[in-house]
Amino acid sequence: MSATTDSEFSIQKIMSWGLLIALGGVATVLALVSIASAAKGSKPIDEEASNSRIAPVARVEMAAPSAGAAAGNRSGEQIYKAACTACHEAGVANAPKLGDKAAWAPRLALGLDGLLKSAIAGKNAMPPKGASDANDTELARAIVYMANKSGASFKEPAAK
Ligand code: HEC
Repeated sequence: MSATTDSEFSIQKIMSWGLLIALGGVATVLALVSIASAAKGSKPIDEEASNSRIAPVARVEMAAPSAGAAAGNRSGEQIYKAACTACHEAGVANAPKLGDKAAWAPRLALGLDGLLKSAIAGKNAMPPKGASDANDTELARAIVYMANKSGASFKEPAAK
């Protein structure tokens, strides 16, 4: 009786030790695999980091000139954003706001030529040419840009 219990006990002991060793082995393998993959994964990052460490201090990036960006041939949007937005975005000094159809409607009746004339000459608080260095074509484009966002459907004048 006691002999059987002893042998059963020792079998249990052996089995549990075996289980422990097996689990330990599995854990070791998993740990090694994760270390290996971590080492693998970190390699490109290290390369990147060392690349940036040895990179030149300053880098000059040349922006590709965008079409129509040259002074004298700027788009209506470019002129608007550079020179007209200061007053026409918020409606400073009662300037007709971009997109405000009610404010633009009576002005649109002047037509593009009429609006261009008053923009070139200036009108009340509106300085001549909106105080910009735009030529007449650019000015007309800026007016078309503004007017077409405010209820008009003017055709943009071709470049001269
Ligand atoms: C300093 C402020 C200011 C700037 C900058 C400005 N405007 Fe104006 N603009 C006005 C005001 C104020 C009016 C309204 C004038 C009025 O009818 O009394 C006006 C009116 C106009 C009108 C309508 C004219 C008419 O006959 O009703 C046009 C077109 C116009 N601006 C175009 C432009 C363009 C294009 C630019 C940029 C190149 C520009 N404005 C920049 C203040 C400005």
